[in-house]
Amino acid sequence: MRTHYCGEVTEALLDQDVDICGWVHRRRDHGGVIFIDLRDREGLLQVVFDPDRAEAFDIADRVRPEWVLKIRGRVRHRPEGTANPQLNSGQVEVLGHAIEVLNQAKTPPFQLDEDDVGEDVRLRHRTIDLRRPAMQQHLKTRARVTGFMHRFLDAEGFLDVETPMLTRATPEGARDFLVPSRLHAGSFYALPQSPQLFKQLLMMGGLDRYYQIVRCFRDEDLRADRQPEFTQLDVETSFMDEAQITGLMERLIRELMQAVAGIALPDPFPRMTYAEAVERFGIDRPDLRIPMELVTVSDLLAEVEFKVFAGPASDPRGRVAALRVPGGASLTRKQIDEYTDFVGRYGAKGLAYIKVNDPADGVAGLQSPILKFLPESVVTDILARTGAAAGDLIFFGADKAKVVNESLAALRVRVGHDLELLEGEWRPLWVVDFPMFEYDETDGRYYALHHPFTAPQAETVDEVNAADPESLLSRAYDLVLNGTELGGGSIRIHRPDMQSAVFQRLGIDAEEAREKFGFLLDALEYGAPPHGGIAFGLDRLIMLISGAESIRDVMAFPKTQTGACLLTQAPAAVDDAALRDLHVRVRRPVKT
Ligand code: AMO
Ligand code: AMP
Repeated sequence: MRTHYCGEVTEALLDQDVDICGWVHRRRDHGGVIFIDLRDREGLLQVVFDPDRAEAFDIADRVRPEWVLKIRGRVRHRPEGTANPQLNSGQVEVLGHAIEVLNQAKTPPFQLDEDDVGEDVRLRHRTIDLRRPAMQQHLKTRARVTGFMHRFLDAEGFLDVETPMLTRATPEGARDFLVPSRLHAGSFYALPQSPQLFKQLLMMGGLDRYYQIVRCFRDEDLRADRQPEFTQLDVETSFMDEAQITGLMERLIRELMQAVAGIALPDPFPRMTYAEAVERFGIDRPDLRIPMELVTVSDLLAEVEFKVFAGPASDPRGRVAALRVPGGASLTRKQIDEYTDFVGRYGAKGLAYIKVNDPADGVAGLQSPILKFLPESVVTDILARTGAAAGDLIFFGADKAKVVNESLAALRVRVGHDLELLEGEWRPLWVVDFPMFEYDETDGRYYALHHPFTAPQAETVDEVNAADPESLLSRAYDLVLNGTELGGGSIRIHRPDMQSAVFQRLGIDAEEAREKFGFLLDALEYGAPPHGGIAFGLDRLIMLISGAESIRDVMAFPKTQTGACLLTQAPAAVDDAALRDLHVRVRRPVKT
């Protein structure tokens, strides 16, 4: 039907006839001449109709926004001074000869170039929202990224293998989405939280190098960068160690970012241990663009009279940390109160601070509600250790280490953005040497920090059994980019006795292990190769590349914060007959 996309019509086509198809973006009547901006996937093109061609002119006069047209016309220069450098086609216009209305449209619920359309409206009318240039750009970027991944991994000898969607639970730390079975009354499939076990079985099956761009399902609380169904680039290899896997994957990400978005990433990516990341940034996915660090000052404060500090300073699970904010002395009381509320959301009971007006002046050059509680020598030591200079402010967190780390890590990011302190555009980081286990206070037991199939940094079962669970490290690695966890993986356990020992330490006894993971334990008995892999969050990667604010903007049909699809109104009730077939009886909420 057409010879060119609207956005592809440029000076190269001057004086040629073109056929174009698209949507009416805008229609303007300029005293006897009608302008239609026709829009398609590749952009906008200005088409002019003058009354000389009466038939086309009359149709052009009637069309309305979002009507679908086919237009034939001749490409010509725009008149002097009317070029639009914003558009690919901005130097030219088409003089319309003929116009055919392919379809009419009702008045759309919002204007495509309106900026502040509510997200609910956009999601309910996603078809129209998808026509917006920003959305088209995001989905094009997404297609280019997945295309690049396929080519790269194919060239490296990876096989694209599909794994089941109707399966058993694969533990990745979230709740499962369950699917009731009709043929097996009372039994349920789980949708995969990831293909973790299947990709390991593929290695045991001798496939050597596997990848898949695959949907994963996790029933967890949603955030700006989380969806209940999302996509991973999932990779697994045999006979490669951490250095080889992370090296190859880092090359994939580096070349991909360069090819798709012209983004240059450092070579190699820096590495940091988990312990160092938590010590310096309070978190295992630090945004290295923010030039602020947490500094432990517990040792200076264990003996002071100020109980708020002295308590956590002398508690082995406590921490007192300082965060120096360059130029922060200009923060107002109101701003500091807001930050105090902000850290409160992470459980912090307060946010002490010292404003450093003039450090040369000793304590007289400082301003703080806690100075009266602290000996001068301690204050001097804190200033020295944090490197405070005139005009800075130092925040303090004192509590259990977990609370201090989480609250100051979040505060660091918030203040960094508020004060526009970010340096550099792209700061990737491998985080390595994760702890194997994490203690959960509420459940009173240990969980795998990565997943239970991750290999420990230990050669033998005896070593694992003898190790202090708090200090045993794993062979896991995460890739962090600008504070986002882009991907994570590990070398896996490939010996059955080691797998059983790790299950044991996680409080999964032999019977439960057999019941849930018998197929894995069996497969490990028949010659499992050493193997490892990684999975990247594809949606998060696209979000970063395209600068989208929400993960929903890089998915064609996302769900809302409450897991609903506003377009199809899913989830929805089903009729009783369907439930009966599935052997399911619904407990209706009690009406009060
Ligand atoms: P993990 O659970 O770390 O590892 O997931 C890998 C990556 O997937 C992305 N991701 C998400 N993206 C959007 N919405 C979500 N709800 C969501 N959850 C996770 C993140 C994360 O880094 N099987 C292991 C990988 C392995 O060991 O090879 C796994 O799934 O970017
Ligand atoms: P208070 O003696 O409770 O008035 O606290 C004095 C200062 O210490 C105030 O600025 C509080 O915000 C701050 N503060 C209180 N508890 C903590 C805490 N756990 N961590 C950091 N600062 C705190």
